[in-house]
Amino acid sequence: MATLRGRRIATMAKLKKHFYCKECGAESPKWLGKCPSCSAWNTMIEDLVLPSSESQTAGNWKEYGSMQLATRPVPIDELSSLPVKRMNTGDVEFDAGLGGGLVAGSVTLLTGQPGIGKSTLMLQIALGASSDKVLYVSGEESPEQLKLRANRIGGSGKKCYILPETRVSAILATAVQLETGLLIVDSVQTLYAEDVDSAPGSIAQIRATAFQLIRFAKESGTPVILIGHINKEGEIAGPKLLEHMVDTVVHFEGEKQYAYRMLRVLKNRFGSTDALCLYEMQDDGLHGISNPSEFLLSQHEGPLSGSAIAATVEGNRPLLIEMQALVGAPVYGTPQRVANGFDQRRMAMLLAVLEKRCGFPLAQKDVFLNVAGGLRVADPATDLAVVAAVISSLEDKALHRQVCFAAEIGLSGELRAVTRIDARIQEAARIGFKAICISKYNARGLRPGKNTINVVGISSVDELYATLFEKFR
Ligand code: TYD
Ligand code: MG
Repeated sequence: MATLRGRRIATMAKLKKHFYCKECGAESPKWLGKCPSCSAWNTMIEDLVLPSSESQTAGNWKEYGSMQLATRPVPIDELSSLPVKRMNTGDVEFDAGLGGGLVAGSVTLLTGQPGIGKSTLMLQIALGASSDKVLYVSGEESPEQLKLRANRIGGSGKKCYILPETRVSAILATAVQLETGLLIVDSVQTLYAEDVDSAPGSIAQIRATAFQLIRFAKESGTPVILIGHINKEGEIAGPKLLEHMVDTVVHFEGEKQYAYRMLRVLKNRFGSTDALCLYEMQDDGLHGISNPSEFLLSQHEGPLSGSAIAATVEGNRPLLIEMQALVGAPVYGTPQRVANGFDQRRMAMLLAVLEKRCGFPLAQKDVFLNVAGGLRVADPATDLAVVAAVISSLEDKALHRQVCFAAEIGLSGELRAVTRIDARIQEAARIGFKAICISKYNARGLRPGKNTINVVGISSVDELYATLFEKFR
């Protein structure tokens, strides 16, 4: 044991840097713009390496036979299954998203675009958490800035301690001496470990500092939340490894021009991963939206052409969202197709299906599509609402306000079944819709008489027109 530890200390002093390609793993002693092995550009990242003689002896398994072990393997049946201890963060939405609060000793990574509200959300949690003491470490903002933000948010913060620090050793020392019940670090890209010789934000620094924080969380049982920036491509800046190291990854997203924010749980070792929390950014901080469908739909009352309601499921949550379309004569020579919050290529496909299968003259029209509220939807079940909105705008006839839609559309114009149809129907019924149009295949599987609203099964887009303007008028 002593020799192993001695060797580790000796190797620590002799750590060298090298570069490897994050696509194919090829190594290089210096940075290269193009990987000589797989020819990918800009994929070389810096790493630390053990001197080869040391790493070879370290892998000699025969030496381990005489090693004294501090921990022994235990048969799984002999392990006691203690319920996981969870801490209330004071934010109902966030707690529910995590599956019932922060688990003791867990490490959560919160990511999102700059300015989306990560620091605001974390300061709210620091002020409202049920823990005795919360340590909020900021390497980005001064205590005065944080104080200003805390004043905006309101709420008392007697238990919330602010530390402007970037050295991980000082952060951990403070956390231990303060006996903090929750540690929040803003952000992991500013952290610095003195024994690693590279700049904060580099892969080596992020890895080394995150490792120390994770060890602290596991060994002390203190939950730790790390804020992480994302880069232009939307990936977590730093190694993908960070996502593997932590227990939970939550991603904050939304359009900055709008007030809505969605918090998605992408990874969760202690609960389900498809949770979604909705917030609204107001002058006094983020407010959880517990009834999102009502919230998103209550914008106008009179009938308008080009608007259709989709019964979607975002994350694990059924949500009614308004899809708006505007179809008109082209302003410029070439018709424009613009989609906000919806995949542009998917819209092009749906328009092509409408043109080819139903004969709607869309090729020479401008088509604009918008998801109300600045939300971004990826659920294929929104297809039918998109198509209904486009037809409504093209015909300039408003749809019945109390009908909603949930089906995917295939290339031959057929309506395909979607998942969680019961949840969609229930949500539509709860909000007070009179009818929901779904795929005939979905409708077949439903138990008759169970639904309080009219469920209309449709087999293809040709049938849709009659349903829209003759059945519901
Ligand atoms: P911030 O939490 O600093 O974002 P991040 O840490 O993700 O970079 O959020 C900053 C934005 O939120 C900023 O543009 C101001 C706005 N904001 C409000 O609208 N209301 C508030 O109460 C607060 C604190 C911030
Ligand atoms: Mg911030």
